Amino acid sequence: MLETGAATQAPGILAGKVAVVTGGTRGLGLAIATAFAANGASVVVASRTHAAAVGAAQLIDAHTGRSNAAFGVQADVGRRDAVDGLASAAVERHGRFDIWVNNAGVSAPYGPAGAIEPEAFESVTRTNVLGTYYGTFAALRHLVPRGVGRIINILGRGDRGPAPFLAPYGASKAWARAFTLATANEYRGTGVGVHAFNPGLMRTDFMTGSQAVAGFEARLRPLRVILRLIGTDPKVPARKAVWLASSATDGQTGLDIANFSRVGLLAHAVREGVGWLRGRGGPIEMAVTTVPPAGPIGRLAR
Ligand SMILES: NC(=O)c1ccc[n+]([C@@H]2O[C@H](COP(=O)([O-])OP(=O)(O)OC[C@H]3O[C@@H](n4cnc5c(N)ncnc54)[C@H](OP(=O)(O)O)[C@@H]3O)[C@@H](O)[C@H]2O)c1
Repeated sequence: MLETGAATQAPGILAGKVAVVTGGTRGLGLAIATAFAANGASVVVASRTHAAAVGAAQLIDAHTGRSNAAFGVQADVGRRDAVDGLASAAVERHGRFDIWVNNAGVSAPYGPAGAIEPEAFESVTRTNVLGTYYGTFAALRHLVPRGVGRIINILGRGDRGPAPFLAPYGASKAWARAFTLATANEYRGTGVGVHAFNPGLMRTDFMTGSQAVAGFEARLRPLRVILRLIGTDPKVPARKAVWLASSATDGQTGLDIANFSRVGLLAHAVREGVGWLRGRGGPIEMAVTTVPPAGPIGRLAR
C-alpha cells in the first residue's frame, strides 16, 4: 500500500530533488540516502526486505528532523517488475524523481570461479548486472522526456581489470562501468547525466560479513588490517555522491569517479596507522563464513 505525499521542500544543494537509492537500507546506500536527505532531497530507499526499507526511512526522517524525508519500498533489483514498481512508487508519492542511484550490490563467496556455486554467480549477475540495467532503464524512461536528472551507478573492485577470486563480482563491476559509460555517451545532450562512481573500500556489512570458499578464508585475513588502514566509513564516499547528484555537475555526463586518489589513500592510511599505534582500535573485526567448494580446485594454491 503506497502512501502519498508531496516532495518536502528543505534547504540544501539538493533542495526539492527526489532521489531513488537501491540498496538504501544499509552501508553505502543508507549513507547516500541520508546525505541526499540532509542536503534537502526527498529520498525513496529500496531493498529486498520490507522491514529494513521502512526502518531505513524512519532513520533518515529522524536524522533530518523531517517527517517525510524518506520513504521505504521493498524491491529486489534483480526483478524487472520490482524495479518498475519502485519507479512507479516514487512517481506516485512525489510526482517525479530526479536522481536514481543503482547501489544495490552483492558478492559471491571469495574463491576460484569453478568452486563457486552457479546460484551464487547468478545472484551476483541478477543484482549487480541486471539490477543496474533495470534501474538505468526505468530511470532513462522517466528522465529523458523531462530532459533532466542523474543516474549514478556504483562500481567496485574489478571495474578496471580482473579481480582474481572475485570473478563474478569483479566482472559485474567491469560490466557496470562499460554499460554506464556507453549509456552516458548515447544520452549525451539529453540533460540526463549518467555517471560511474567507485566508492573505494568501506567498512560495511558487505566486507565485514564476507563469505569464502572453504580453504580460501585465510586469504581474507589481511583484509582486517587493510580495512583499518584504507577502509572508510560510507559517509565519506556519500559526500561525493551528493556532489555528483548536485547542480555542480550540470551539463556533464560520463563522469567516471573514484572516491580515492593515491595521495588521499596514503594520507588516510597514515592517519589510521597513527591512531592504531596510539591505541585507538586495531584491525577491523570480520566474520568470515565458509561454504564448501562447488567444483574441483586442483593444485591451485590456497
Ligand atoms: N563495501 C565496500 O568496500 C565496497 C567497495 C566498493 C564498492 N562497493 C559497492 O557499494 C555498493 C554498496 O555496498 P555496501 O558495502 O554498502 O553493501 P551492504 O552493506 O551489504 O548493503 C547492501 C544493500 O543492498 C541491498 N541489496 C542487496 N541485494 C539487493 C537486491 N537484489 N535488491 C535490492 N537491494 C539489495 C541490501 O539490503 P537487503 O539485503 O535487505 O536487500 C543492502 O541495503 C555495492 O554495489 C557494492 O558492490 C562496496
